[in-house]
Amino acid sequence: MPDLDTSLHLDMLNRFKKRNGLPLRLLRAIKREIFSKDIYGLQWGDPDVAPPLRFIKDRYVLPYVNAKHNAIEIGPGGGRWTRYILGFGKLYVVDYYLELLKELKRNFNMRNIIFIKNNGTDFPGIEEGSIDYLFSFGTFVHLDKHIIEAYLKNMKSIVKPGANIVIQYSDKTKIMAQLNKGFSDNTPDEMRQMVLNAGYKILEEDTTTLWHSSVIRFTI
Ligand SMILES: C[S@@+](CC[C@H](N)C(=O)[O-])C[C@H]1O[C@@H](n2cnc3c(N)ncnc32)[C@H](O)[C@@H]1O
Repeated sequence: MPDLDTSLHLDMLNRFKKRNGLPLRLLRAIKREIFSKDIYGLQWGDPDVAPPLRFIKDRYVLPYVNAKHNAIEIGPGGGRWTRYILGFGKLYVVDYYLELLKELKRNFNMRNIIFIKNNGTDFPGIEEGSIDYLFSFGTFVHLDKHIIEAYLKNMKSIVKPGANIVIQYSDKTKIMAQLNKGFSDNTPDEMRQMVLNAGYKILEEDTTTLWHSSVIRFTI
């Protein structure tokens, strides 16, 4: 421990003041505006920056990306997570709203991406038994249980045996989900039951990393 005559604390304060003087703050703001990625969804947290989201990305997303595999993202929004799974052979992005698919296309219009407008629970045009990885974040947190159940039923035929299905859902055992009126009524116990009732095998659960939701990984 430094003694009382240490300059440590004043040095730290001076470094902070230097970094946060008006000229440097202005420069950083201009850089941010010019180079910002302008992706709809980053306002909810950037998985490159926010530690809990970074953990989810590193554990549940990046390890599964494979150019020989096919993937689906349900509810991609502006592509906050899509940008990490562009390396799949085929990437189906499935959304209920055409406007959101258009917004995604504005950011990501690669040749391996197939844009699909669905009817809220289905996978039109996706071949049976063809999907290795299915991911959804920021979408199931808003879906009522009957819609989740319909999705679980419908995704069964399009995934391959052994596929990895990763879904983030609302966790009303957490105070931040209880306070959010847009979050649906769901808990890890209920989600687990729905997944098992639909005939899947649970591989992994994370009920601690996120402050308003939980994540489940399962397969057939
Ligand atoms: C809150 S945004 C999250 C977007 C993105 N995944 C993210 O984390 O930034 C929810 C997304 O789910 C889509 N969505 C809502 N209900 C849906 C449904 N039943 N099926 C598919 N997509 C849906 C919305 O259009 C939107 O793209």
